[in-house]
Order: sequence, then C-alpha cells, then structure tokens
Amino acid sequence: MQLPKRVQIKEVGPRDGLQNEKVFIETAHKVALIDRLSETGLDYIEVTSFVHPKWIPQLADAVDVLKAIKRQKDIRYAALVPNAKGLERALAAEIDEVSVFMSASEGHNQSNINKSIDETFPVLKEVVDGALAAGKTVRGYISTVIACPYDGYTKPAQVVRVAEKLFDMGITEISLGDTIGVGVPTQVDALLSEMLRHFKAEQLAMHFHDTRGTALANVVTSLTHGITKFDSAIGGLGGCPYAQGASGNVATEDLLYLLHEMGIETGVELERVQQTALYIEGILGKKLSSKQVAIARGEEESCQIS
Ligand code: HMG
Ligand code: MG
Repeated sequence: MQLPKRVQIKEVGPRDGLQNEKVFIETAHKVALIDRLSETGLDYIEVTSFVHPKWIPQLADAVDVLKAIKRQKDIRYAALVPNAKGLERALAAEIDEVSVFMSASEGHNQSNINKSIDETFPVLKEVVDGALAAGKTVRGYISTVIACPYDGYTKPAQVVRVAEKLFDMGITEISLGDTIGVGVPTQVDALLSEMLRHFKAEQLAMHFHDTRGTALANVVTSLTHGITKFDSAIGGLGGCPYAQGASGNVATEDLLYLLHEMGIETGVELERVQQTALYIEGILGKKLSSKQVAIARGEEESCQIS
C-alpha cells in the first residue's frame, strides 16, 4: 500500500462536537477541554465558532473561550467565521486561523447559512480579504461533498466548482466534509480522483462524519490518494444542527489508533487523547461511542494486544 509517512490531525471537537450537544457546556469546561487537548501533541485545534449565537447558542461564549485558554506557541487555534460580523468578533478574540464554510449543495447551504451558493461567495470573499489583511491564514470547508440531506447525492463537479472559487479568493486549504457521514470508499475515491485532477493533495483535508460507521474506511481511501490532513473530534463528538441525522465526526482516538498501527506518524499521544475523551465524557454525562474510549474505561481489556 502506498501511504504517507506522516499525517496532521486537526481536532475539531470543541467546535463541531460541542455545537451539536443539546445542552450548553459551561465555558470553564470548554476551556479545560481545549487546555487538555493542547497537551496531547496536537498542533491544530478548532476551538469555537463566531456564527450567530441565535443559530448556535452552544458556542455563544466564543470570545470568552478564546480569552481563557492557555495558548501553546506551536498550536494553531482556529474558529469558524461565516461573515464580516463574525470576523470582527474573531479578530477581537485574536484567533490564529479563520475557517470559512459553505456547502457543495444548495439545500444544505441555504439551511445552514441562509443563502444560496452564489450569494455566499461575496460574503466569504469579504471574510477572506479581511482575515488575510489582518495577517491570518484562512481555511475553507466545503460541506455535503458526498450527499446532502435535502438534495441527494452530490456530483464531484459541484465540489470542484466551489473549491475553485474558494482557492481563487486566496484560501490555502480546503477541508472536504461528508457532513452527514454516509459516504463509502468508492464515492470518496470518485470524489478525490476528480478533485486531484484540479488541485494538489496538499491543498486538501478530509472531514468525515461517521453516521454509517464508514469514516475510517474513507480515511484509508483518502490516504491512498496522498491526503495527509484529517479533521477528527475527541470522543467522536460532532454533527451539524442544520443537517438532520448527521452524527459525530470520526473519533480522534480511533483515527490515531488506525494511523499509528499502520505505521503513520501523527505526533499525537493516543493515551492522552483517551484520557481527554474520558474527561469530556464525564462533563457530558454520557458514554461516548469511540472504541478507544471504551478501552480507556477498561471495558475491552480482553481485546488488548499483549
Ligand atoms: P442571517 O440571519 O441570515 O444573518 O444569518 P444576517 O446577515 O441577515 O444578519 C441578521 C442579524 O444577525 C444582524 O443583526 C447581524 O448583525 C447579526 P441585526 O442587525 O438584526 O441586529 N449577525 C451576527 N451576529 C453575531 N455574529 C455573527 C452574525 N452574523 C449576523 N457572525 C448566518 C446568517 C451565517 C450568520 C447564520 O446563518 C449562521 O450563523 N449560521 C451558522 C450555522 C452553523 O454554525 N452551522 C454549523 C457549522 S457548519 C458545519 O458544522 C459543517 C462543518 O463541520 C463541515 C462538515 O461537516 O461538512 C464545518
Ligand atoms: Mg462537521
């Protein structure tokens, strides 16, 4: 198998994970989660979101979270920013990297950010211009790259069109989201085969939700295409409140197990991530679904390799 030697993991749990919890997690607990994640070897953490607090009340404390975390110098702390108003708040909170986002499908774009795809480009351009002028790097997300809960399957050409527009704005990296977590390796293969005719593997990251249990299989498919950046969430938390049925992201600790056992370096310590997953499980008061958190709880001792 042709595989990369090293992969970068972008932890999105504090944002993608906590935006989808039914209850508001206290700011101090969010800060404690991020500070623990900062001790695991991760070099990228998406910490919150400067979207409208009415739309995502779970992350209404974005500024307070950013002010309170203990920033490590080798870690880039990022946040979602939907528009100029969000950028103003994000810059005031001294974010390191801005993540803009939109969808490849009209139905999800409209439901998630209240605009058509074509109406979204000028809004994001303003954010990208403002962020670059302020010396920030900008990442872009494209959601529903495999399928949309409103419009059905997405054609790779729709993703290419949106990606071209985003790269033209000066974005350096695009994360491709299987937002509802239904994709399978043949679909990921078709998408990446088309994307890589237009863009380089280094320009892309993959963001797999795991609704159907296929996220890790999709990661392996992406690795064989030379992709070296993956988003994941501690404990397998996550989901998009504007994509019905979407469940958690691929769990960071399960992704780490897979990559490390395949001989791929990440620089992240699995055991520390497991302990952090146990911490947030305690805060949320519910069992998380990842395999590695079950091992950390001591539930799967018989399956350990001796
Ligand atoms: P809108 O209501 O159309 O906004 O929302 P608007 O521009 O018409 O403004 C209405 C009012 O909101 C104005 O106030 C604005 O100032 C205010 P008024 O003049 O009426 O007093 N406003 C704001 N206030 C604070 N912060 C802001 C902001 N923007 C406007 N940023 C908007 C449009 C995009 C803001 C809204 O639809 C929104 O916040 N959507 C966010 C949805 C979201 O966060 N979804 C989840 C994240 S995406 C995701 O999970 C997918 C991903 O993980 C990848 C994957 O899995 O595929 C990234
Ligand atoms: Mg997501």
